[in-house]
Amino acid sequence: MDIRILNNAQEIAQAVGDIFSAQLKEQPRSILGLATGASPVPTYQYLIDLYKKGKISFKDVKTFNLDEYCDLPREDRNSYYSFMFENLFSHVDILPENVNILDGNAVDVDAECAGFDARIEKMGGIDIQLLGIGTNGHIGFNEPAEAFTEGTFKVKLTNSTIQSNKIYFPDGHMPRYALTMGIGSIMKAKKIILIATGEAKAQAVKAMAKGEVAPACPASVLQNHADAVIFLDKAAASLL
Ligand code: F6R
Repeated sequence: MDIRILNNAQEIAQAVGDIFSAQLKEQPRSILGLATGASPVPTYQYLIDLYKKGKISFKDVKTFNLDEYCDLPREDRNSYYSFMFENLFSHVDILPENVNILDGNAVDVDAECAGFDARIEKMGGIDIQLLGIGTNGHIGFNEPAEAFTEGTFKVKLTNSTIQSNKIYFPDGHMPRYALTMGIGSIMKAKKIILIATGEAKAQAVKAMAKGEVAPACPASVLQNHADAVIFLDKAAASLL
């Protein structure tokens, strides 16, 4: 686990954005694993800026998102589908058919999840997977559990995650289930980049980096990945 502590979210966005940009220049047909939430937004803004300056293109890129809520229409402003178009895809030249986001309303959930993993495999695997971390140590929506999860699956969200994300659902209709890439799917990525900023993440970051590798802190599994780079600001790194 390669831990890099920078001064602030902007410096992290630039450092992570430069890794993505180098990847796209070297391999224009890259397969990117993307995340939603607050942590990646400055990186997405930096990448949009590079695209607008003509320095990178997403024309031949394919993307897979980590997760999506269940029982929320794709068009809902809080779906991860909407999030990704609003925060990245609508501002760059990616082809909509190259965007892969789980269908949280699929009737056959097992087929949806298995098909997602199979598509990643068929395309040769994810080159770079971007992650955030939950205050409970989750990655994707892999919540603290008795065992590490494997492939993509349907998960019941924990109370901690519901508390963290319910600010986005002021009408109180926060989904209780989601589809998420499993720990096994995430660990297959060739490179993993995790971003954590702010004091609220400090405890989870400590458990991830210094704790035992155990499903009680799903992110701790990244200690076993051959190329996981963790970008932290000083507040998130304060307990290391
Ligand atoms: C998002 C995701 C989640 C978030 C995590 C941190 O696609 O899978 O694991 O990365 O909850 O969220 P933020 O960045 O909002 O603190």
